[in-house]
Amino acid sequence: TVVEDVPGDYELGGHPDFMAKEIAEQPEAAQRVLRGRLDERLGTARLDGLRLTARELRGIRRVKFLGCGSAYYAGQVGAGLVEELARVPADAEPAAEFRYRNPVVDPDCLYIAVSQSGETADTLATVEELQRKGGRVAGAVNVVGSAIARECDSGVFLHAGPEISVASTKAFTNMTLAFALLALTLGRVRDLSLGEGRRIARALAELPERIGQVLAEEDRIASLAGRFADAQHVFYLGRVRGWPVAREGAQKLKEISYVHAEAYQSSELKHGPLALVDAAMPSVVLIPDDELAVKNLGTIEQIRARGGPVVAVTTTGLAVPGAEEVVRVPTAGPELDPVLLTIPLQLLAYHTARKLGRDIDKPRNLAKSVTVE
Ligand code: G6P
Repeated sequence: TVVEDVPGDYELGGHPDFMAKEIAEQPEAAQRVLRGRLDERLGTARLDGLRLTARELRGIRRVKFLGCGSAYYAGQVGAGLVEELARVPADAEPAAEFRYRNPVVDPDCLYIAVSQSGETADTLATVEELQRKGGRVAGAVNVVGSAIARECDSGVFLHAGPEISVASTKAFTNMTLAFALLALTLGRVRDLSLGEGRRIARALAELPERIGQVLAEEDRIASLAGRFADAQHVFYLGRVRGWPVAREGAQKLKEISYVHAEAYQSSELKHGPLALVDAAMPSVVLIPDDELAVKNLGTIEQIRARGGPVVAVTTTGLAVPGAEEVVRVPTAGPELDPVLLTIPLQLLAYHTARKLGRDIDKPRNLAKSVTVE
């Protein structure tokens, strides 16, 4: 690749490609995004770069995440966290869609422009459009000094370190962690209790170690890749906390292995997509450790009844009858499960692509950052 002779972070360091290196770097990258921002005693976080006082934070009535590709899916995880921890309405939208639909800009909304590179044209144009209309927009950007970082006068840097592989891994994870910090901060100026705040803060502090525990299962996850390499199509199914994870998982598989993957809300399965399920169509079913776990087990039964093979990825300790394979992921509490459930899906996509002999760091037709429309 063009950057092979640049020292430091741009070297492969014994990894076969940058994606493998960047997946492996996630525990330390996660530590960097959390460092200095967590207050376990007060059960809160501080994001000084947002430049918002407690009173201003309280005045935020909506949060909207805007980005493209994986940055958009990370925003969807963020929206879930903000609604859950802060009870502030939140959503995510692809930046290009937002900017071209003459959006209603709400002065009480905190808009977050999400971008690894900080150079994506549609996200940058969205920031400019928001500022023209008097919107309050903060960046969630990895590359310091990038166009989006400069355009936003406030924000939260992701500190993932250089990400070379086109398929985002450590930057995605750090986006979701930055949004967990934001959700905790917003929650604690509202009704999230000290005890709950402490629980979340502690779980966040332990997250880098948990990510390491998932990565330690790499060989086992790699052994499942053959199922996907032989498939024409794969479903990724999740609901509520599992839904953005399913979308990001499907995105990873498509972009680097070229195996067709579709994400659906598992609750929507019976309203159409179930017609596609047969023995040749594997499904990855996400089961966070939450009150929907039993319903998710029911989804597996529905698929099995049509002969579809299932790989379950779960943070629960529940038995998963019907699944041919179960990938068990340590839980960090239900709120943060989306962060951890994403990691095995990165490995699954990576090893499928390797089995198929793909050019992992530079998938066909794709660019790391899309700086033109
Ligand atoms: C491209 C890349 C994706 C990335 C998206 C947004 O499409 O192929 O992997 O998620 O851009 O990039 P950004 O740098 O704004 O996060």
